[in-house]
Amino acid sequence: MTVRILGIESSCDETAAAVVADGREILSSVVASQIDIHRKYGGVVPELASREHLRRIVPVVREALEQAQMDLRDVDAIGVTQGPGLVGSLLVGITYGKTLAETLGKPLVPVNHLEGHIHAVFLEAHKAGIEPALPAVCLIVSGGHTVLYEVQSKGGGNGEAESLWSYRKIGQTRDDAAGEAYDKVSKLLGLGYPGGPILDRLAASARDAAAPVKFGPTKMKGNAYDFSFSGLKTAVSYHLRENPDYLAEIQAREAAIARGERKFDQLLPLCGPKTLGLVREFQNAVVRDLVERTTKAAEELDVPTILVSGGVAANRQLRATFEQRAAALGRKVYFPSLALSTDNAAMIAAAAYPRFAHRIFADVSLNACASLPIA
Ligand code: KG4
Ligand code: ZN
Repeated sequence: MTVRILGIESSCDETAAAVVADGREILSSVVASQIDIHRKYGGVVPELASREHLRRIVPVVREALEQAQMDLRDVDAIGVTQGPGLVGSLLVGITYGKTLAETLGKPLVPVNHLEGHIHAVFLEAHKAGIEPALPAVCLIVSGGHTVLYEVQSKGGGNGEAESLWSYRKIGQTRDDAAGEAYDKVSKLLGLGYPGGPILDRLAASARDAAAPVKFGPTKMKGNAYDFSFSGLKTAVSYHLRENPDYLAEIQAREAAIARGERKFDQLLPLCGPKTLGLVREFQNAVVRDLVERTTKAAEELDVPTILVSGGVAANRQLRATFEQRAAALGRKVYFPSLALSTDNAAMIAAAAYPRFAHRIFADVSLNACASLPIA
């Protein structure tokens, strides 16, 4: 019998609902992004986020059910993100999830958002009929997280989608997340929010523009698998301050963004070769650091698989570099599609499935946990 789980995600600035069958077949996935609301503040404003979740949650769930051609009564369980994330935002999803579970008499499955990001990779692989082999090293890299885990299967249940996993944290950022670095550098350059998608495309357009500055590898004492991106952001900021010739361009781009002209085709003509060279050097430094530390961990732990997920996993240079390095090392690397890289509820429903199979349920006392650990 097919198990259909309704997933609800509201940990940050995306209100999302999805229905997934047997943990791997996406029947529907609806994401209402709040980017337009937070853009003018240059980042997510928690109070605005929870208010917007309140407005969107009911229609988003309804649309997810409609797309799956289902009625609420057909749902076998409700999976909801318990954390980590913004407490006020999480509470909206949790409260709605609890209410649905109670009124429908269906189980409520609490899900860790980061575990969801890992399941996103498996959802994607499943579309191609692939089952990534565990153990794996998993890099979760987004606007809120940059963390490296070793993932093992604990087995149990019927097949891959039902088995519970165990995690060991190998490393994490000591300061900014990689996505946060993209967003901050984008702001410094007058390129708006979020920064990842635009910097990704500008870096690809830089081609052989001369490098106005070089950023060396980040050196850190202690754990070799930890990350740090705030130094790089500061280096960009110093470089801009020391070179006032960037200023006119930055102001022109800020003015364009203020007029709502934030598309790549509108911003590219406002970026001279020096800016493009700078963006490419910044991205080279981020990608090099993420790929080096992650592949080193995969070698050291001798695992066959590397999983990369989270918003920054959408980055094309990151994907291409991981592919090359993994192939050279005889390991497999897997990413979610763009839509499954950023926050969504299909990954939450997928992560809820093994917990459902193992009857890990929550009751009405379930509360949000801003820093819920998985390891
Ligand atoms: O996973 P996500 O949607 O939200 C959380 O932070 O949990 O990730 C959003 C982050 C933002 O910082 C955004 O700038 C970054 O992912 N991002 C990218 C790209 N697309 C999104 N960073 C680099 N390259 C991209 N193509
Ligand atoms: Zn996320």
